[in-house]
Amino acid sequence: MHEIRVALGARSYPVLIGPGARHELSGVLPVGARRAVIVTQEAVQEAGWLQGLDPGVPFEVCTMAGGEATKTMGTVEELCRRFAQSGLSRADVVVAVGGGIVTDVAGFAAASYHRGTAYVNIATTLLGQVDAAVGGKTGVNLPEGKNLVGAFWQPAAVLCDTETLATLPPREWACGKGEMAKYAFLGQPPRPDDELEEQVARCVAIKAEVVAADEREGDRRMALNYGHTLAHALESAGMADHPEWDLRHGEAVAIGLIFAALLARRLGRIDEARVRQHRTVVAAFDLPSALPPGASAAELVTFMGRDKKAQQDLTFVLDGPEGVQPVRGVAPSDVLATLVEMGALS
Ligand code: GLY
Repeated sequence: MHEIRVALGARSYPVLIGPGARHELSGVLPVGARRAVIVTQEAVQEAGWLQGLDPGVPFEVCTMAGGEATKTMGTVEELCRRFAQSGLSRADVVVAVGGGIVTDVAGFAAASYHRGTAYVNIATTLLGQVDAAVGGKTGVNLPEGKNLVGAFWQPAAVLCDTETLATLPPREWACGKGEMAKYAFLGQPPRPDDELEEQVARCVAIKAEVVAADEREGDRRMALNYGHTLAHALESAGMADHPEWDLRHGEAVAIGLIFAALLARRLGRIDEARVRQHRTVVAAFDLPSALPPGASAAELVTFMGRDKKAQQDLTFVLDGPEGVQPVRGVAPSDVLATLVEMGALS
């Protein structure tokens, strides 16, 4: 079992990674917790991952629906009402068992309930383990945009049980692999031929270090959004106008990484060899690097402008001589030209 610490002073916590990590739950419960509510989804229950799960205190299980559509304030209210009905006090604990949607929503419900109740994440997807469950970003969507309401609220512990990945549907792997490919440019990279547990641990170690340095995304943490500006634009354009693209988040991130590399090269920040490295990493994780057919440069730039991570001006997280960092004031003409270089309609 790997143990990585997210070092945040009094809010520091362990991330345990390995097969069967979920069974460490009772040992990581906050001191003084006398009751727990486990928040999960039916698919996780049906896969059997709650069997034998023992927080060591009396608990109730509460399920929420699956899919992005469930990431709403309405679900947060429902969860908080269930917490109240089960007699959960501020000293007790919420346990989120599932992927990024469960940990985002249950984490935000915990952040809000009694103005802040402890929670533990048990991440059962690759995306959750290498990204969403670690770092304390919790929140929900509004009709106006994704993740517009939320809180930085760190978990008391995160358990990344690699056993639970056995039931992950094939395309869900792509979601996590896109994030893994991202880490290849942010620190000691995961290698596709390493043991899975080792790969997850390497990603978590990078994330833990970045979060410890910049918990509230003042600057450095923005590097974790590498590849995401185009990715979010592709996801939004896909949802709005191109259902046939059917892109998973990680696939969109992979395309976003290639775009970011080409844009950085256009701006003279990296050379051709470094662009080739991006292509090699994306291919090694078996992810796409080309824009989907019919993508329009103008449409994608419009969606990028709406992405909160792009902020007001066109800010991109780009590779360069000092590593991956935010670059402000990128000219829209460079962005358009890079998209056209990738085959977008001009
Ligand atoms: N998923 C990016 C972050 O946690 O900052």
